[in-house]
Amino acid sequence: MSAANDLFGVYVHWPFCAAKCPYCDFNSHVHRGAFDEETYIAAYEREIAHAAALAPGRMVQSVFFGGGTPSLMDPRSTGRILEAIARHWTLDPQAEVTLEANPTSVEVERFRGYRAAGVNRVSLGVQSLRPGPLAELGRRHSVEEAVAAVRIAQSVFERSSFDLIYARPRQTLDDWEDELKEGLWLAQGHLSLYQLTIEQGTRYFDLQQAGKLTLPDEDLAADFYELTQELTAAAGLPAYEISNHARPGQESRHNMLYWRYGEYAGIGPGAHGRLLINNQRHATAAERMPFDWQKKVMAQGHGMVVDDVLTWEEQGDEFLVMGLRLKEGISPARFTALSGRRISPRQIDTLKGYGFLETLPNGNLRVTDKGFPVLDAVVADLAA
Ligand SMILES: C[S@@+](CC[C@H](N)C(=O)[O-])C[C@H]1O[C@@H](n2cnc3c(N)ncnc32)[C@H](O)[C@@H]1O
Ligand code: SF4
Repeated sequence: MSAANDLFGVYVHWPFCAAKCPYCDFNSHVHRGAFDEETYIAAYEREIAHAAALAPGRMVQSVFFGGGTPSLMDPRSTGRILEAIARHWTLDPQAEVTLEANPTSVEVERFRGYRAAGVNRVSLGVQSLRPGPLAELGRRHSVEEAVAAVRIAQSVFERSSFDLIYARPRQTLDDWEDELKEGLWLAQGHLSLYQLTIEQGTRYFDLQQAGKLTLPDEDLAADFYELTQELTAAAGLPAYEISNHARPGQESRHNMLYWRYGEYAGIGPGAHGRLLINNQRHATAAERMPFDWQKKVMAQGHGMVVDDVLTWEEQGDEFLVMGLRLKEGISPARFTALSGRRISPRQIDTLKGYGFLETLPNGNLRVTDKGFPVLDAVVADLAA
């Protein structure tokens, strides 16, 4: 069994947003003042050339424009980046090309332009189908705009998905049941459902510290999760990963590439990558500040500020953290190929005894529905 699996994708980070949402700790910046997008895109082209020199000859199976808000990009910029990817590597004609979009009417107007540039899948940040919570989440779109954006996306792109956030302040299980049913009715092949997490450095974190945010306790959060699994499975979009639901065959190939521990180049400010160079897996990360990144790229050809060769142990740990999120589980043989060690049979038996882990007919190990709410502990036990 080889440590590589021939999966290769490109993640492209667009760091700008129209406003900062109070829950979000992604590398996103509100930029005011003059901005020369054409010149800024030249830095992406240079960084792609650099990554391709490090990891040449790859067949790109997926490209993901994430953010920030990539739907603020001019579609011509998206086209230029895709052309650069195709010039320096081979872009599989069947590649999945996803763009994250915010569902405002301004952004929807650009959908056809993205389609013409080569984007074939969008992921829309709807977040809620209720007006009060939308406003509280700091979103700049209405429910009606979001629903219209989902429908237009479904007609323009071959595939689409949207995100909802649940277990929000003061939300009840009944509220979520109604809202999720509407979401499932609206969705086609794919839906991402994220439980609200409070991240340090966000406005929600400060509110929570000040006792001004009422969130579900652990038990209620587990009930939210369980209800979400039940409703999505009943609607034919079961979870294929903790937060991602799809009709079979409609899974996000890019996300699968991460969770299956494939290889990917990270392009743009703050982007992370995992590149196989001389048979060693490099963990890379770029400068986060958008204009510092641009300066670095123009001066040295790339914006990388981290380039670490992962040890066998680190590879094994990452493989478990990523792969055990998946319903398909992980191959113990690939774990051994990546980490040079075996998962302890005693740990496996103990976790099976608790009903947290099972072996599938193909030999893969996977976390059970009972084990998912305590996934971090299961991973830590297996990695020990
Ligand atoms: C890069 S972000 C957003 C992309 C796009 N700018 C937007 O807002 O729609 C991707 C997704 O992560 C989710 N997300 C971000 N912060 C979160 C948090 N603190 N808790 C749960 N989900 C979160 C949101 O559903 C969001 O759509
Ligand atoms: S949730 Fe999206 S729009 Fe809001 S700050 Fe984060 S990346 Fe920007």
